[in-house]
Amino acid sequence: VTDRALSFGAVAPAYERFRLGYPDEIVDAVRAYAGHPVRTALEIGAGTGKATRRFARGGIAVTATDPDPAMLAELRRQVPDSVTTVTAAFEQLPAGPSYDLVFAAASLHWTAPIGRWSRIAARLRPGGVFAAFGGETRIADPALERAVLAARSSLLGDDSFPAPDGTPADSPLQWPGTELVRAEQFTDVRQSILERRPTVPAGDFIGLLSTVSAYLQLSEAIRSEVFARIERVLPERVELTADITLHLARRC
Ligand SMILES: C[S@@+](CC[C@H](N)C(=O)[O-])C[C@H]1O[C@@H](n2cnc3c(N)ncnc32)[C@H](O)[C@@H]1O
Repeated sequence: VTDRALSFGAVAPAYERFRLGYPDEIVDAVRAYAGHPVRTALEIGAGTGKATRRFARGGIAVTATDPDPAMLAELRRQVPDSVTTVTAAFEQLPAGPSYDLVFAAASLHWTAPIGRWSRIAARLRPGGVFAAFGGETRIADPALERAVLAARSSLLGDDSFPAPDGTPADSPLQWPGTELVRAEQFTDVRQSILERRPTVPAGDFIGLLSTVSAYLQLSEAIRSEVFARIERVLPERVELTADITLHLARRC
């Protein structure tokens, strides 16, 4: 697990406050796809529990795992007691039972690529469901996006996270669907997109950036300067695109 992968814990309360959560439609989509009762789930990289709470409130017994104890401490404050926590990177999870569902929200790209699919399949009962979802939150107005990029470009270039397998952003099938269709352990791969266009106060947008790993890699002085420059070009409220891409697959 790299330092960058473990950079979120230092800002766990801000992560909980400013990152957008997930809608109940994700849980509904997983249940509809499963076609069998989903009673137990293993979550990879649960963070502060933004997805965990949705599945737990849907009556699913969730085992929430994450290598970062600070993230799990925040999660504990946000989720029902029915949620079990395990502090471990996915690659280091102790052996355990198999589940009806394994899911990862904005965390799969942090897991080790080698052996990823056999490791996930090993945690699923036959016919069990894997769900991965997430997406980038970006400024909706292209002119404002360009102004923000220009304001910060001498201190920070690209702040996005490219697909781990190099899939282009405009490809019809996105990662990890591109890997799932080739993984022998999985079948019936589906991709869907939930569109979201929230508008947030400028301060909340800066708060959100303060939880993005590209910004967390900067020194404190540079980070403050980047945020000051961005703040100067932002209007009072910022419209965002925050679409969620959901991938579903079934263990053979
Ligand atoms: C962007 S956050 C997503 C948190 C949460 N799932 C959400 O959607 O808000 C990524 C999380 O992945 C965790 N992580 C990093 N490396 C990991 C690994 N190898 N296995 C599992 N989780 C990992 C981090 O600690 C962090 O909590």
